[in-house]
Amino acid sequence: MVRENLVVMEVVTTKFGKKKHFQISKPLGVFLLFLFLGCLIATGLLAHNLTSCPGGVAQTEKLSGALTENGASQTTQNVLVDEIPTTTTNSPTTTEAEAKADTNVRLPRSVVPHSYKLRLIPFLQEGNFTFHGEVRILVNVTIPTNNITLHADDLFIHSVSVTDVGGNTVSIRDVRGVKQKQFLVIDLDEEVAAGNQYYVYITFKGVLNDLLQGFYRSSYQENNQTRWMAATQFQSTDARRCFPCFDEPGLKARFQISLARPKDMTSISNMRKINSIPAPPNLPDYEWDNYEESLPMSTYLIAFVVSDFQCITNGKISIWARRSALNQAHYGLEIAPTILEYYEKFFGIEYPLPKLDMVAIPDFSGGAMENWGLITYREPVLLYEKGVSSRSSLQRIAHVVAHELAHQWFGNLVTPTWWTDLWLNEGFATYVEFLGAYAVEPKWKDPDLFLVNELHGAFGLDALSTSHPISIKVNNPDEINDIFDRISYSKGASIIRMMQHFLSAEVFHKGLNNYLNNSKYSNAEQDDLWQAFTVVSHQSKVLDPDVSVKEIMDTWTLQTGYPVVTAVSIPEGDSLTLTQERFFLDKEKKADDSSWWIPLTYTDSRHNFRTTWMRKEPEITLSNVVLGEGDWFLLNVNQTGYYRVNYDTRNWHRIINQLRKDFEVFDLKNRAQFLDDALNLAFSGYISYDIALNVTLYLTKEREFVPWNTGLDNLDYLYDMFVRTAHFDKYKAYVLHLIQDFYEELGFKEWAEDEPLTVLSRMDIVGKACLLGLRDCIIKAVQLFQNWKNTANPDRDNDISPDLREIVYCTAISDGGQEEWDFAWQRYLTTNVANEKEILLTALGCSKETWILSRYLEWAVTEHAGIRKHDSARVFASVSENPVGQDLAYRFLKTNWNRIRTYLGPSSMSLVSIVRTSTAHFNTEEEVNDFKSFFSRKYDEFGVALRTAQQSIEQGQANVKWMKTYFTTIVNWLENVRR
Ligand SMILES: *[C@@H]1O[C@H](CO)[C@@H](O)[C@H](O)[C@H]1NC(C)=O
Ligand SMILES: *[C@@H]1O[C@H](CO)[C@@H](O)[C@H](O)[C@H]1NC(C)=O
Ligand SMILES: *[C@@H]1O[C@H](CO)[C@@H](O)[C@H](O)[C@H]1NC(C)=O
Ligand SMILES: [Zn+2]
Repeated sequence: MVRENLVVMEVVTTKFGKKKHFQISKPLGVFLLFLFLGCLIATGLLAHNLTSCPGGVAQTEKLSGALTENGASQTTQNVLVDEIPTTTTNSPTTTEAEAKADTNVRLPRSVVPHSYKLRLIPFLQEGNFTFHGEVRILVNVTIPTNNITLHADDLFIHSVSVTDVGGNTVSIRDVRGVKQKQFLVIDLDEEVAAGNQYYVYITFKGVLNDLLQGFYRSSYQENNQTRWMAATQFQSTDARRCFPCFDEPGLKARFQISLARPKDMTSISNMRKINSIPAPPNLPDYEWDNYEESLPMSTYLIAFVVSDFQCITNGKISIWARRSALNQAHYGLEIAPTILEYYEKFFGIEYPLPKLDMVAIPDFSGGAMENWGLITYREPVLLYEKGVSSRSSLQRIAHVVAHELAHQWFGNLVTPTWWTDLWLNEGFATYVEFLGAYAVEPKWKDPDLFLVNELHGAFGLDALSTSHPISIKVNNPDEINDIFDRISYSKGASIIRMMQHFLSAEVFHKGLNNYLNNSKYSNAEQDDLWQAFTVVSHQSKVLDPDVSVKEIMDTWTLQTGYPVVTAVSIPEGDSLTLTQERFFLDKEKKADDSSWWIPLTYTDSRHNFRTTWMRKEPEITLSNVVLGEGDWFLLNVNQTGYYRVNYDTRNWHRIINQLRKDFEVFDLKNRAQFLDDALNLAFSGYISYDIALNVTLYLTKEREFVPWNTGLDNLDYLYDMFVRTAHFDKYKAYVLHLIQDFYEELGFKEWAEDEPLTVLSRMDIVGKACLLGLRDCIIKAVQLFQNWKNTANPDRDNDISPDLREIVYCTAISDGGQEEWDFAWQRYLTTNVANEKEILLTALGCSKETWILSRYLEWAVTEHAGIRKHDSARVFASVSENPVGQDLAYRFLKTNWNRIRTYLGPSSMSLVSIVRTSTAHFNTEEEVNDFKSFFSRKYDEFGVALRTAQQSIEQGQANVKWMKTYFTTIVNWLENVRR
C-alpha cells in the first residue's frame, strides 16, 4: 500500500485504521439492533431452514447444492447468544484476562483453507447499505481437532454448516464469536481427522460502512445527483469484516468470487469475469457477475468494486473512474504498461494475472492498495488533468503506480508469512518504485530524489529513542497498523538501497529472482530473502565465504536506529580513525551499545575511491589516506549507506571551503548529504552550529533541487523554532538572502520546457519567498489570485500555473480575508479535479483569521460539511503549519478529542496524522507538559496513535532543550554572518 503525503516532510501513513466503536447513522443503528435481535431468534430457526435467509441463500443450490441438500436440516447449531463477532477490541468491559489473551491472536494451524467460493450482494440504497453473503470454504485438516476457527468481525452470522467432501454432515456443537480475537469458532461434536477435507458453509450479513475499511460505501455527485458505490479495503485485517475467512497473510487459498449488482452498474474483482447471469427472482433489478478462480493468494489482497464507473482500456490494463473524471485517466494508462514490462524484466517473472484493473475511488483511506489484479487508488494519485493538475502530481502518480505494480510480485506473488515482515513488502516496493518511475519519467531523476523523499525522512524519525526496529513482533490489529510508518517504508527502502549497492546490481537481481521463484504463490520471511542473496553473493564472490547477508542485515533490521560514523584523521599521519555509535536526536541520551555492519565507501580530493567494511567493530583505522594541505575526505559516497557521517573540525572546514570555492566538485547527492548531516549533527550536539550553518552559506550559488530541498527542510526546523520569537527577523533575512538570486532566476511562471526538477525548485523557492514575506512574491501572488477571482467563469478559466497554485492561493488567502477564503472554498466545492481539491484544502488553512480557521477545523470533522473523511487530516496539517493556527489546532484536538475519535474511528490513521501535526511545533516546557498531561489522562484512548504521541513528546522535549542550548548561539551567528 502507499501512504499518503500531506505536507512537506510530514508523511501520513495510508494504512487502514481499525475502529473499535462502530459509529453509524441512526437508521443503520436501529437496523443493526434489529439484526442483532433477529440473529438470536433466527439462528434457532435456521438450523432447520437455511432459505429463510434472504439474499445469498437464494442462490444456495448453484453454489453449494450438495451442502444445503445434505447438510442443512441436520446441522445442529446453538444460538449465538450475545457472542456474535463484533467490534470493540478494547471496550470498557474488557477484562484483564481477556486483554492478556488478546496478545495471541493467531489462528491455530490445525485447519487451513484450500479454496473459497464467495457470493456477495451489496445493497446500495440510502437507508439500507448492507450486504448479504455466503461463503463455502474447502478446508484441510492438518492436525486432529474438534473445532474450526476462523476470523469474522462486524458480521452477522446467519447460519453455519460443515460437511465432508462426500456430503455427509459433521454435527456442530456450538458456534461462538471470540470478540477479543475477532474469531469465529465452530465447535464440532466429534474430532475431525488429519488429512481430511471439509466444506465449511456460512451465510452472513454485514454493513457497507462509511469508515473506508472492509466492504465500504463511497459516494460522489454527478449531474447534481448523489451516486453510491461499494469498494473494499482489506489490508491489513479487514477481509474478516466482509466475509468469514482465515484472515492471515500466510493462509493462502484460491478464491472464486461472485458479486450481485444492480443491472445498471458494473462490478470488478481480482480476476476476469466469466459471465453475468440473472439474479434471484426476489431481486429483479440485479445480476450475478461470476469471476474466474484466482491463483493462491492472501485474503488481504482480495478486492471488488461495484459502481457505475466507466473505463478506458488497452485490452489488458484498464483504468476505471467516475464518468466525469474518465478523461483524467489517460496518464495512468500511458505509464502502467511500460512499468509493468519493466518489472517483468527486472523481476525476471511475467506478470502472473491475465488482466489488471486500476480504479480511482472518491473515498479512500490510504494512497493506494495493491490488491492483486485490481489496484485501488485515491483519486488524486491516479487521475491527472493536463493544465489543471500540478506537474508534480505526475511524479506522484508515476511513483504510486510503480509502487503498487511492484507489489504484484513483491507482496502478492510472494507474501510475508506474517506482518512482522511488513517492512520487507513496503521497503521493497518503496525502493523499486524509484526504478519503475525512472523507467517512465527519467527526467525526474529518481535516483537523486530518493534522498529527499525517503532517506532523510527516515533518518529524522529513526533518531528518536521512541523509534522501533524495522522488523518488529506484532500481534493484534492495532499493533499491525502501527507499523505502516516511515520506518517500514523509508528506512526499509533505504537499507535495501544500501544492500543493492554493496551486493552489486547483478547479484541483487539474481538473488531477487531466486527468492521470488522459490516462494511464488506462497509465503516467505526476511531470512529467505537473505539466504537467496547469500547464495548468489558467495557464488559471485562479492562477500567472503564466512559472511552471510543475514549477519549483515540483521544489524539493520533487528536493531532500532542507525549509526553515525566519525572520521578523525591522525595528525601528521596518513590514516584515519573511524568510530561508530548510535545516532540520537539528543546526544546525551546515548546509553546504547548497538553496532552495525557498515559498508563504507570513501574518497578524497584526489578521487581515490575505495570501499571497506566496519564489521560491527566500534573502531577501525583506514590507512593510506594521504591528505595534503587543504585536502578533504568524504565518507558514504552518494549517501548510499544508511548512516550519518561526522568529521574532525579540520575536515569540516575543508569541505566548507571547497563548497564555497567550487561546490560542483561534489556530486549533488553529497552536497545534500553535507547539509543534512551537518545540521542534524549540530542539532544533536555532535558539532557546533557554526560549522553547520557555514555549510549552508554556499547555497546562494546552488541551483540543484536535491541539495536545495535538503537545505530548506533543515532550515524549516529553525523556522519552526524562530517563528514565534522576537528574533524571527534575523532568520528571515538570512534565508531570503540565500534564495534571492535563485528566486529571481526562476520567476513566477512555469514554462512548458522547464525540466521537472526546475518545477520542483520553483515550488520550493517561490513558496519560501512568499512564506517569509518577500514583497515581490506576495504582490505577484495576490495579483494572480485577484485576476483569477475576477474572471467571469473561475471554475473554467484559471491562468495560474498548476504547480504554483498552492503558493498563490495560500499567499492570497493569508493576505486576504473572508472574501478570498469563501471564493477558494467555492472553487473547492466545484472542481472536478481531485488534485486541485487537495491544493485548495491545504491553502484554505493559510488564513490569518482565527475564526475562519476555527470554522475550518470544525468543518473538517462534521458530516456533510463538504470535506471527505479521508481529508480531515489534511485540514489539521495545514492549520497546524500556520503559525496563527498551531495553538488553535492543538486546542481543538484536545477539546474535541472524543468527537474526532468517534467521527474518524478511534484508530483511524487520520487520527494518528492529526495527533502528529497538531503537536509538532511545541518548543516551550508549558506546551510539552500540557500535552504530556493530556496524553497521560487519555492514555488508553490513543490506540494506534500511541507511539506517535510518545514521539511528539520526545521531539517536543528535544525542542525545548534546543531552545535553551542553541537559540542564542544561532541568533548571534545570524547577526554576524558575513554575507
Ligand atoms: C489440501 O489437501 C489437498 C489434498 O490432500 C492437497 O492437494 C492440497 O494441496 C491441500 N491444500 C492446502 C492449502 O494445504
Ligand atoms: C436491503 O435491501 C434488501 C434487498 O431489497 C433487503 O432484503 C434487505 O432487507 C434490506 N435491508 C434493510 C436493512 O433495509
Ligand atoms: C481449537 O482447536 C485447536 C487445535 O486442536 C486448539 O489449539 C484451540 O485451542 C481450539 N480452540 C478453541 C477456541 O477451542
Ligand atoms: Zn505498499
